[in-house]
Amino acid sequence: MASKIAQLFYLARWFFGARFLGKKKPLQSVVFVSDRCNLACKHCSVYNLKNPISKSLAQLEEELRYCYGLGSRFIDFEGGEPFLWKDGDNDINDLIRLAKRIGFYSCTITTNAQKAFHSDEAGAIWVSLDGVGEFHDRVRGDGAFARLEKNVATCGHKALTANMAINTLNWEAVGRTIEYVEASPYFKSISFSFHTPFPGTEHLTVDQKTREEIIDLIISYKKRGYHIMNTKVGLRKMNRLDFEPECWVTNFIFTDGTRLPQCAGKQYGVCDKCGFGMAGEMNALFHFHPETIFAGLSLRV
Ligand SMILES: C[S@@+](CC[C@H](N)C(=O)[O-])C[C@H]1O[C@@H](n2cnc3c(N)ncnc32)[C@H](O)[C@@H]1O
Repeated sequence: MASKIAQLFYLARWFFGARFLGKKKPLQSVVFVSDRCNLACKHCSVYNLKNPISKSLAQLEEELRYCYGLGSRFIDFEGGEPFLWKDGDNDINDLIRLAKRIGFYSCTITTNAQKAFHSDEAGAIWVSLDGVGEFHDRVRGDGAFARLEKNVATCGHKALTANMAINTLNWEAVGRTIEYVEASPYFKSISFSFHTPFPGTEHLTVDQKTREEIIDLIISYKKRGYHIMNTKVGLRKMNRLDFEPECWVTNFIFTDGTRLPQCAGKQYGVCDKCGFGMAGEMNALFHFHPETIFAGLSLRV
């Protein structure tokens, strides 16, 4: 694997090429390993309970090599539930080891924490936390919050970040969730997205006034030193979405093998209602906001 210096050199070269020479090569990739899940969250349009697809290790290796060839150096494994993924004796940790052998600098996993999970291999683990107690369960089903608390306490990973998707079922819990994460000995920080209205989930989108009030609330916590991953500039950009998206920074490979140079929001025509916090961060990165550059480096390198 490349040394930290070589990694920083690659990142600097990538940034220069993208910002000043117009080279649009992805730097990170979201790879869906399966659509098999142990929850059926109200806001999600990915899980497939009836006929789940699980990719083979060989398919995933080919996809990882493709992403690396595009220029990507960071992977987020998504699903379905990535910790359910297996091919023979191989699990998600074997997949991360493979990605590192290919040359990726680090990998993250997004999990619902419904079963015990362990990974010394993942650089960071995103735990989806959609509120505290009943708010989380409203989105994810009865008992989901209790299971998450138990598994987060025993996973032993040092870089757990909570990820909250804010929607009409849980927006009132944002402040309480920030305080819960701050007080937790297990989470390092929290990151926010708003609900993105993929088909069938439109009714969960919060209205514009509520969105603006929540962004102000998150920024007020951030100014008081709470550990919130989104940057202030990125959050402000998510207020009105009046910026040029730079979503090609992340390419996607979905469970059915579809490869897209950006998130599926574009093909569903929902970019004007995008909630993904990363959209604001990627734009801020491109406009050289130091806050975003340091946040990205501390997460990834
Ligand atoms: C699709 S889930 C899969 C990974 C894992 N099973 C989990 O629940 O975290 C990945 C992340 O996307 C978020 N998500 C799902 N649908 C969303 C939507 N329409 N808008 C914003 N975030 C969404 C979830 O809350 C979760 O944090």
